[in-house]
Amino acid sequence: MVYAAILGYGTVGSGVAAVLEENKEMIAQKAGTQISVKYILDLREFPGDPNADKVVHDFEVILKDKDISVVCETMGGTEPAYTFSKKALLAGKSVCTSNKELVAAHGPELLRLARENNCNYLFEASVGGGIPIIRPMNYSLTAEKIDGIMGILNGTTNYILTKMEQEGADFESVLKEAQEKGYAEKNPEADIEGYDACRKIAILSSLMLSKTIHYEDIYTEGITGITAADFCYAKAMSRTIKLLAVSRLTEAGCHVMVAPFLIPDIHPLRGVGGVFNAVFVHSNMLGDSMYYGQGAGKLPTASAVVSDIVDCARHLGKTVMCLWDEEDVKPAPYGDIERRFFVRADREKLCEERARELFGEIETIRPAERLTDYGFVTPPIREADFEAAAGRTAGILSRIRLED
Ligand code: HSE
Repeated sequence: MVYAAILGYGTVGSGVAAVLEENKEMIAQKAGTQISVKYILDLREFPGDPNADKVVHDFEVILKDKDISVVCETMGGTEPAYTFSKKALLAGKSVCTSNKELVAAHGPELLRLARENNCNYLFEASVGGGIPIIRPMNYSLTAEKIDGIMGILNGTTNYILTKMEQEGADFESVLKEAQEKGYAEKNPEADIEGYDACRKIAILSSLMLSKTIHYEDIYTEGITGITAADFCYAKAMSRTIKLLAVSRLTEAGCHVMVAPFLIPDIHPLRGVGGVFNAVFVHSNMLGDSMYYGQGAGKLPTASAVVSDIVDCARHLGKTVMCLWDEEDVKPAPYGDIERRFFVRADREKLCEERARELFGEIETIRPAERLTDYGFVTPPIREADFEAAAGRTAGILSRIRLED
């Protein structure tokens, strides 16, 4: 029997208990042993809940219990999750987590503590919710040199962009509706400003490099500036707008960025709609591979945590290899990346001739229904040169990067 404790009985924590109960027998077969939840740590009581008698309020009870070999940290945030995770690992107890903030901030240190104490720090649920992506990168693609990752890593923003496209609606009204339906948080900043996707691509980039990319160093733009007008132009260009987290190894280093991109209708990520996530990985032998599924939600995320518990149960006393060193790597300067930009411009303030002077051989787009603005696509241009040229004119209403 393997005994586990769940830290935080919120959406994901209660999902972990539910998945372990629902699939108990099959999980026991796969783990080679029964897995039983002995404690649930939470500030609250849960009268009437089937696990009400397992609730404790003091982490030390869990720490001191020698029966507990796996701790599921589903609290979120960095504290007290960080302190509890460290204490558990130092006591030789494996930790499985869905907490991307903590993994992005302290992952390599917690992995080292796990190695030093012959246990595991596993975090499949921290990126892409229920989608297997960490394990494929650590196990399935071990024969590969991964050199590119591109993902839709945030369900809330993908839901909002999908609705904006389908309904021709503006950002604010779709956000409000998403909040009313519970698809967006009351405080949606981390999602809509791209911070959540930024932490997730920091984790994936670090695994790609086996070194640490800090999320604070990643250029990040959210979707708050995207308008219904931009989607009108996207349609005219046979494209759509997606918030992409992109990480690419080039001779200049690792370019990492989170931003809205215009992707063509034939792009593999084009069909990823609503709250779904997908990660597109490029590696040198396999080529492209793609991982798709539910990037959030109680049971999908809990399923990924439980897969980690099973991994811990299979490897008691042994550390599962995860190459992620504490050595820091700075992303390559994003200003040097060359790409095409879509620009939506005020017809009065930025004429086509001036746009050509500034950006070179532009391609114009003039949907019939747009009367006061027009669009153009620049030739490939360095990000820094684009910003400099854009700074020399008025009349730019929006600009979105193109990804082909
Ligand atoms: N807020 C996140 C999302 C939840 O919308 O994708 C999963 O990390």
